[in-house]
Amino acid sequence: MAVRGSGSGAVWPLWLPLRSDLRGISPYGAPQINDVIALNTNENPYSLPTEVVEAITTRIHEVAKDLNRYPDRDATVLRSKLAQYISTTTEVEVTEENIWAANGSNEILQTLFLACGGATHLALGFTPSYSVHPLIAQLTRTPWFAGTRDENFAINVPVAKALIKEKSPRIIVLTTPNNPSGNAMRFEEIEELAEAAGRVDALLIVDEAYAEFSSEKSAIALIEQYPHVVVVRTMSKAFAFAGARLGYLVGHPAIVKAALITRLPYHLSSLTQSAAEVALDFHGLLQGEIQTLIAERSRIEAEISSLGMISTPSAANFILFRGFATDSNTAWQFFLDRGVLIRDNGLRGFLRVTVGKPEENDRFIAALRELAAIEASQPNI
Ligand SMILES: Cc1ncc(COP(=O)(O)O)c(C=O)c1O
Repeated sequence: MAVRGSGSGAVWPLWLPLRSDLRGISPYGAPQINDVIALNTNENPYSLPTEVVEAITTRIHEVAKDLNRYPDRDATVLRSKLAQYISTTTEVEVTEENIWAANGSNEILQTLFLACGGATHLALGFTPSYSVHPLIAQLTRTPWFAGTRDENFAINVPVAKALIKEKSPRIIVLTTPNNPSGNAMRFEEIEELAEAAGRVDALLIVDEAYAEFSSEKSAIALIEQYPHVVVVRTMSKAFAFAGARLGYLVGHPAIVKAALITRLPYHLSSLTQSAAEVALDFHGLLQGEIQTLIAERSRIEAEISSLGMISTPSAANFILFRGFATDSNTAWQFFLDRGVLIRDNGLRGFLRVTVGKPEENDRFIAALRELAAIEASQPNI
């Protein structure tokens, strides 16, 4: 059969009318490898407590008999529980009219891009950041402009404001704490950019996937004064609920109405909605290890520094570090050979490690010490 190649290495059959702009790209995804310590996808390493597992199982048992019916299209109960969670944890009073939920925050981002992006609507981001943002822009045919960050991965606010004025984007994306660097923006900086976004009628998306690990004030406090600000959150990280796939946005009711247009009908299954509702009832318990993870983050940062390497100060559950002599890919393989899977985000000279359980972090630290010792004994590598 005749086939045509593509830049991604995939070979597409001639009969498949795949969009030409998608032929060269690879599916997004980090390696999933069995029997290793997985510190590569910023998951919460703690399994759900038995009490929560039992409560979810009971609830799923109850809803299973009704699976002949479509789910609540508007996820009303879930959205009101999310609103309650946000109101109590951020002290910003919101209702279900401010919330939309979907299968992970990636789907929320796609829903927003479908609503406000498109061929004539420029999106502006600041890289390096979460690589799914430009990917979603491409999938929704939204032109993407990559603004830059400084050598500490911070956004220079005056430069960003000038860029917003010059480019007049329809969508601006900020990620705080940023992935892969882990640094957070100050609330006042986000507010300055919210003002700048308002002046050009842009939607300002603030991706706060790791907010619960940070002590910075959430941009949710901006949504009343700046209706064009929308905050994207997830239960994948702090809630230890990545497998359930539940992300949500907090914003003005008009943004929620726009999301209703671009979401697929019945996109969120009854099983997902019910499981997430139970998880929200137990949010204190599910987030019980956040302080442990923050303490472990400090321990790893101190260890990196004591070995003469450098990490970017992190407000998230992962750490970006540099200062090893070999290239990133060789160093990544060195860790994998010792059973520790971390992340090479394609940033030259850097690697990213997710904070795991103390014993997992010990394994990472042991490998890091070994790498440092080898490099010290072979200064020419
Ligand atoms: C910055 C950021 N946003 C969004 C996501 C997507 O999270 P999910 O789709 O699991 O909610 C991630 C996942 O790693 C992320 O790092």
